[in-house]
Amino acid sequence: MALRAEVRSLLGTWRHVNSLHKRPSSSEAHTVTLIPGDGIGPEISAAVVRIFDAAKVPIHWEERNVTPVQSPAGKWMIPHNAKCSMEKNKLGLKGPLKTPVAAGHPSMNLLLRKTFDLYANVRPCVSIAGYRTPYTDVNLVTIRENTEGEYSGIEHVIVDGVVQSIKLITEGASKRVAEFAFEFARQNQRGTVTAVHKANIMRLSDGLFLKKCREVAENNKDIKFNEMYLDTVCLNMVQDPTQFDVLVMPNLYGDILSDLCAGLVGGLGVTPSGNIGANGLAIFESVHGTAPDIAGKDLANPTALLLSAVMMLRHMGLGQHAARIEKACFDMISDGKVLTSDLGGKSKCSEFTREICNRVLDLE
Ligand code: NAI
Repeated sequence: MALRAEVRSLLGTWRHVNSLHKRPSSSEAHTVTLIPGDGIGPEISAAVVRIFDAAKVPIHWEERNVTPVQSPAGKWMIPHNAKCSMEKNKLGLKGPLKTPVAAGHPSMNLLLRKTFDLYANVRPCVSIAGYRTPYTDVNLVTIRENTEGEYSGIEHVIVDGVVQSIKLITEGASKRVAEFAFEFARQNQRGTVTAVHKANIMRLSDGLFLKKCREVAENNKDIKFNEMYLDTVCLNMVQDPTQFDVLVMPNLYGDILSDLCAGLVGGLGVTPSGNIGANGLAIFESVHGTAPDIAGKDLANPTALLLSAVMMLRHMGLGQHAARIEKACFDMISDGKVLTSDLGGKSKCSEFTREICNRVLDLE
């Protein structure tokens, strides 16, 4: 039942609004934890808040900083007030967070996923009508196991010059993400789930992941099931991405393949994502980084965070608000007159935001 509720709340993660949502009254104010993040994070978060204000979305933002803190024993943690806010509100919108390379604190993105058991990363990759990319009609969703695999953080030095990194695959995590993928496919009227793996090489770890996918497929015969090697998926993806529907995979493969898929539809600047957890907790986030090269220059494209916030609105049952904001955003990108430089235009983040606000008001 819990899984069904988690997936159902994602209905229409992209263009489809589904009337089965459990919808709170649209006038009821919801509190959402806002984590602006680093680099361009504060600029693009402010843009989303402005657009939501223009659209009169009934959301109260509770802003929290997740700059990591260290316990006396040296353990890195999410600041207490950010953790409490997420636990209370159950919903978060997050900008990018910087991760120091090879030293310092660990990735806060990983820590957030682990802390709140956000086990499924969902990324719709859908072509935006009118926005020219090498492919048209891409319409796929990657679902990445988010809590273990190669990102379990189990690494150690065996002897000087030799390190070992452990890929952890468990029956439980594999089964629940596979179940999530099938339920997601069903609820979103999608026909096929493809398990992506390298069980020919990693026979035990990917073998277990695949075994669980097969078992779950047996119980979900209304959805077609495919299994494919990761390398074959990459080859086929660049040849003809329209052949794919829902793809489910272990953590590292999902990290890489989902970025590749984002590239098919215009890049990280236009790709949203949601991290869905047990107990109804979810964090929606843009998938690009902190863009330090343009931070503070009013050049960032807020689309990815805005579309992640649109996913969140649907998750909350605020489908009408979601549809209006999404239409304003897509229409504007498709018109091509007010675009940020990453989309081939010359507009500033503030101009882009103002134009979406105007369009949202026009759609009222
Ligand atoms: P990046 O995504 O920040 O930047 C790559 C290129 O894309 C840069 O040229 C940047 O200007 C551009 N770009 C990214 N987002 C954009 C946007 N919204 N509008 C316009 N241009 C945009 O990747 P990079 O440089 O590898 O990482 C920088 C930092 O971000 C690192 O500390 C990294 O750990 C962190 N990061 C955080 C992520 C997250 O919080 N989800 C994801 C990826 C990286």
